[in-house]
Amino acid sequence: MRILFVTSEAFPLIKTGGLADVSGSFPAALRKLNNDIRILIPGYPAVLDKILNSSHLCTLSNLPKVGDVQIILGEMPDSGVPVMAIKSAVLYERDGGPYADVNGNDWEDNPIRFGILSLVAARLSAEDSPLNDWIPHIVHCNDWQTGLTPAYMHFMHDTRKKIDQPKSLLTIHNMAFQGCYPAKWLAALDLPSESFQLDGLEYYGQLSFLKAGIFYANGISTASPTYAKEIQTDEYGFGLQGLIAKRSHEIRGILNGVDTREWNPSTDQYLHAPYDFKKMRGKAKNKKLLQARLGLAVDTKTVLLGVVSRLTHQKGLDLLLECADKLFLDNDCQLVVLGSGEENLQRGFEELAKKYPQRVSVNIGYNEELSHQIMAGSDIFIMPSRFEPCGLNQMYGLLYGTPPVVSNTGGLADSVIDTNQETIHNKTATGFVMKSIDTCQLLATISRAIESFNDPKIWKIIKKNGMQQNLDWSESALGYQEMYCALIQSKEIK
Ligand code: ADP
Ligand code: GLC
Repeated sequence: MRILFVTSEAFPLIKTGGLADVSGSFPAALRKLNNDIRILIPGYPAVLDKILNSSHLCTLSNLPKVGDVQIILGEMPDSGVPVMAIKSAVLYERDGGPYADVNGNDWEDNPIRFGILSLVAARLSAEDSPLNDWIPHIVHCNDWQTGLTPAYMHFMHDTRKKIDQPKSLLTIHNMAFQGCYPAKWLAALDLPSESFQLDGLEYYGQLSFLKAGIFYANGISTASPTYAKEIQTDEYGFGLQGLIAKRSHEIRGILNGVDTREWNPSTDQYLHAPYDFKKMRGKAKNKKLLQARLGLAVDTKTVLLGVVSRLTHQKGLDLLLECADKLFLDNDCQLVVLGSGEENLQRGFEELAKKYPQRVSVNIGYNEELSHQIMAGSDIFIMPSRFEPCGLNQMYGLLYGTPPVVSNTGGLADSVIDTNQETIHNKTATGFVMKSIDTCQLLATISRAIESFNDPKIWKIIKKNGMQQNLDWSESALGYQEMYCALIQSKEIK
């Protein structure tokens, strides 16, 4: 199958969160299954810098606002998966991140930047694509940044031949981000005005990229089975639950896999002492080195709690701030936090570190190396998210022998098995699941985890269970392949 995988970030080229991890590893797993897959991504400076063996492939002309863009063909470092980068100096070649400038303000022209990403994907899959020897069977879109692709594909395709046209699949990684913009962008993006209606791109008077994707895509998936159900409810649907529910029988939740080349404690390039479940001594060494690096008291008996996260409301870390005093009063524990995001959360954690200098280390910013060292050096990973489409960190925690404390939602619920008498007995326990998402439950669940940590026999079982999980992409890639096949064979016209 020829698959065009459209994404706004992919590790190791550019990363702000889990979407990059997915885009960096999932296409490689599909290629292993003998699919002919190419990634399409904006040509940010880091992307143009890091792709290997790059050369000019073709030019696309007459694009709204920008005229021409170049398509550069290269390869992903490590996996060698082919990458097509859209080179447009005016759209993508600037300092700052993929979505925001250096001060964290969203780029004002994001509708055009991601509208063009979406349109290029559709043009490359159209009959008159300049790549007429590589027309994809499947165009796999990810999140709102690519949400207009299915819409453009729908408007472009010749209705008489629709059954044979490439099929679009949208994976929703996070319903909270929808890409909603004033209606004036419709004309700027060459979108037909008649599509601006309830059965189309319109969402409460605005143009919604995500709604466009959900409405026009031939297939829809989410990053975990539980999240696929949750987004059909008022609580998790962020206003789109009605539309999702209408297509509920078609939506599949497929749990993300982990890039086990990057996230494997026995080969991790950032660790000073590799380890695996048979030889765990390295883990204690990593803990001591981490404590020393962070200026915490070096002591392997003190339980070290780890957090690596975007600091946003979604991640529920305000609950941890609320119960921190009680946690430190009742337990001999330390906390390391790595993350950045909302001002009040950053400040809250910085104040906590000032209050408990020997026990709390707070690192504001983005640091790939430290994130791996925290995963290996901590004893327990904390992730009390209010919602979590999949979540990758809890899975890294499992593989690194750092059992996670998680809330009972989305991919967290699908990947962590709570510790209790029964799951210890049948050796399935892998972590600690909160019964509800509130401060008391978080405190109670961390306390339960610390109790288990203090019982070496039980702790060994829990760690081993997690580390032996098969969390790579093999099974999920097969699930997606099945979905692609069903879409290709489907006679349904969208
Ligand atoms: P989300 O995509 O919602 O942020 P995930 O758990 O799916 O959550 O993925 C987050 C990814 O981003 C993980 O690979 C995690 O290690 C990484 N990450 C988040 N914050 C930081 C940070 N400050 N420094 C380094 N890596 C980070
Ligand atoms: C989003 C979600 C996260 C998920 C990631 C990759 O960022 O917040 O839960 O793991 O996408 O699917």
